[in-house]
Amino acid sequence: MKLRFSRPGASEAELDSFEWNKISGWVLTALIAVLGLTIVTGYIYTPQKPEKPGYVVEGVEEEASAAAPAAEAEKPIAFYLATASAEKGASVYKKCAACHTINQGGANGIGPNLYGIVGNVHAHAAGFSYSDAMLATKGKPWGWDELNEWLKAPKAYIPGNKMSFAGLSKPEDRADLLLYLNTQGSNLPLPPVPAEAPAAEAPAADAAAAPAEGEAAAAEAAPAEAPAQ
Ligand code: HEC
Repeated sequence: MKLRFSRPGASEAELDSFEWNKISGWVLTALIAVLGLTIVTGYIYTPQKPEKPGYVVEGVEEEASAAAPAAEAEKPIAFYLATASAEKGASVYKKCAACHTINQGGANGIGPNLYGIVGNVHAHAAGFSYSDAMLATKGKPWGWDELNEWLKAPKAYIPGNKMSFAGLSKPEDRADLLLYLNTQGSNLPLPPVPAEAPAAEAPAADAAAAPAEGEAAAAEAAPAEAPAQ
């Protein structure tokens, strides 16, 4: 039966290798096709998750952060405020200056004047035409935490507000900025740093450091042993 695909006059040994070439040729072709398809479909269908979800549903947030604890692990703003710099905050504020004034009695621009905003209330500025969404929160306090949430993601904090600003993703930037805002007419005492946050952090850092030290010690010990053998 081997001779079925043979050329007339060819020897049996020759035919064998000819058939084997054909078989391996087909196998290779199939492999290349599969590989190619994998690459192409992988390229087309790579899921692209946004860095931040476009909206936050109240009550769902806790579940989401439990699912991705590493990415969402941000300490309370009080923690960052303790080491923040008002000077750096002044330069972060340049992003706000296009729309806001911050001097005492400064005019409302695209956004309301922000003098003394820390510790003030939502929709505080007389004569500024706030959005309905912002007016619905009128009188709510602008404490450290509220301002932090607002500056992190204005759209998420008050959906439908008209401040066209994406938010500051780095907690350090927000803390610097808040400290600066506080120097402009508020001068509130900084919130106390919650005790649990740094305490929970410390043992984890130690635990991570310990094996590293162990490895280093082992690495040092190894060459010392080698000459002895
Ligand atoms: C593109 C213009 C724009 C930029 C940039 C901008 N804001 Fe605003 N801001 C607004 C507008 C408009 C409102 C009023 C929102 C509304 O009524 O819905 C507002 C509202 C606010 C409020 C609430 C004021 C109140 O009376 O309750 C605060 C606080 C605030 N902005 C802080 C900031 C800070 C800090 C920055 C910089 C990180 C910033 N904004 C950047 C336009 C801007």
